[in-house]
Order: sequence, then C-alpha cells, then structure tokens
Amino acid sequence: MNEAPHRPVLYQEIIHALHPVTGGRYVDGTLGAGGHARGIMEASAPDGQLLGLDVDPHAIAVARKTLAPYEHRIHLVQASYASLAGQLAGLGWEAVDGILLDLGASSMQFDTPERGFSFLQDAPLDMRFGPGMERTAANLVNRLSERELADLIYRYGEERDSRKIARAIVRARPLHTTRELVSVIESVSPRRGDRIHPATRTFQALRIAVNEELESIETVLPQAVAALKPGGRITVISFHSLEDRIVKDFFREQSKDLINPPYERIYEVERKATLKEVNRKPLTPSEDEIKNNPRARSAKLRIAEKI
Ligand SMILES: C[S@@+](CC[C@H](N)C(=O)[O-])C[C@H]1O[C@@H](n2cnc3c(N)ncnc32)[C@H](O)[C@@H]1O
Repeated sequence: MNEAPHRPVLYQEIIHALHPVTGGRYVDGTLGAGGHARGIMEASAPDGQLLGLDVDPHAIAVARKTLAPYEHRIHLVQASYASLAGQLAGLGWEAVDGILLDLGASSMQFDTPERGFSFLQDAPLDMRFGPGMERTAANLVNRLSERELADLIYRYGEERDSRKIARAIVRARPLHTTRELVSVIESVSPRRGDRIHPATRTFQALRIAVNEELESIETVLPQAVAALKPGGRITVISFHSLEDRIVKDFFREQSKDLINPPYERIYEVERKATLKEVNRKPLTPSEDEIKNNPRARSAKLRIAEKI
C-alpha cells in the first residue's frame, strides 16, 4: 500500500479550527495515513495527546509510522469512530478538546486496486474499509433482491437509472469483479456527454452500504458532542451530499434551544443548544488545493463548538 501522495484535505483549515494546544486531548476518528493527526501532534507539543481510530488495519500501520515521533502521546486503535464513547471510557478520558472526522475512503484505499473501490481498475468486489464489516460489495450485488438493490443504488448513489441498473445486475449475476459490474452498468446507462462515469454513483452507493457509513456518522455525532469540553470543537470533512446533510442538520439542530417540542417530537425533553456553528457555510478547498489534489474538489468542512 502506498503512502498518501497528497497533503491531507483542508489541512490548514483543520489545524486552524481545532487550534490544538499543549496538554490538550484530541480525537482523530479517521486516521488514514495520519497526516491531519501529525499536524495535531505538532501543534499540541510537547504534551498534547491523541486518540486515533481507523477501521482499516493498513491505515493504522501507516499512521503508526507517520506518528512515530509522537509515540508516547498517541493511542491508536483499530475500531470504528461509532464506538467513540467506549474508546474514551477505555482510556479514562472524560472530555476532549477537539474531534476530527475526515469521512469516506482514503487515497491509499482508492489507489490499492485489489480493495475494489475504483471502477477504473479490475479487482474483486470488496469495498470494505476494514475486515470487521460483515458484507462485501459482492455479497450485496449477488444476494439482494432487485428491489433492494434499486433502492440502495437510488438512496446512497442518488442514481436516477437505479432501477435499470438493478435489473441488469440481477440478470447478469453472479458478479465477482469491478470490471464485470462496470460493464453491466455501462450496458444500460451509457456515458452521457462529459458527465461523470456511469458507474460512479453505483460504486458510491455500494461503498456506503458495505461500510454502513451514514449510520456510523449518525451514531458518532451525539457521542462527540457529549465528549467535548465546553469550547471544544468538532470538525467534519464530508465528500458527498448525503454525509454533509447529516452533519449540517445535526449541527443546526443542536445549535437551537428545544423549547416546547413540537407534537411529532413530544417525547423529547426541553434542552438548551449544545453547539454553536463556527461557519454556517461549509469551508471548501482552494483552487490551488484542488489543482494539486483533484479528489479534494467535493470536500466540505463543517465546524461546531461545544457551548
Ligand atoms: C479520508 S481518509 C482520512 C485521511 C486522514 N485524515 C489523513 O490525514 O491521512 C478516511 C479514513 O477513515 C477510515 N474510516 C472510514 N469509516 C470509518 C469508521 N466508521 N471508523 C473509523 N475509521 C473509518 C477509512 O478507513 C480511511 O482510512
């Protein structure tokens, strides 16, 4: 597996937003190659600490190398960020100063063809971020009903040809490789002008489903708020609208006092706002950054501060 070739996405913005300080405690829930984490360790020298999580054992191994100079200040665990509260309890950390989530797949994962994330390379239909996920992409395309597949591709890929694609998959299965899946998709959803590759949305949908990405984000956000010290910040980089919407809605919701809950939320208790949005509009990479790293182009950074 290669080292990540680029500076991590929105690096300066993340370090600026988290503003790590000496003695602070930070969480990087999506370590990847450890680029952002290194910045946090540098800025919080000499004794800031970091809990770093990733479900991918390769990412943990690479990050361990990247972060070797800070070995005595880091705790790296191969686990989902959805288990944040339990991980913090395990360390005996009651509260933290900052949390980073840089969602989705890493360049290392995209650039390792055998992991099956890229529709441009032939590989087994895997797409798991880590070995802990129950189902591979092959399991989904070969076992779901046509209806379930169409719904999945529509919901997680926002693909308007979802029904046609699901029907073609069911006719052609079993499918074992990315190339087989791409040619099935191309047979019913040909390239239209200079739009994105016809397999883009279906691959996104399968990856989200395999890794239970949206459920994990929904699970971690309340845990993150509970874990932050007042004034501590949560920073989230998302790469597509489904992720961003969850983060945006959660931040908005938590920035309001809930007084007299409306009828449909009658079971919720009144509560004060827990977060303050630092930027109402998400931050996005500069043109320079996108030129150096085209994958950064869809990145959006949202920052909120615990009240
Ligand atoms: C975009 S990369 C992070 C890159 C990192 N910020 C850096 O500086 O190199 C996202 C990482 O999150 C990991 N990941 C995805 N879902 C996860 C989850 N639920 N829990 C923990 N890690 C996850 C992926 O395995 C991947 O390594």
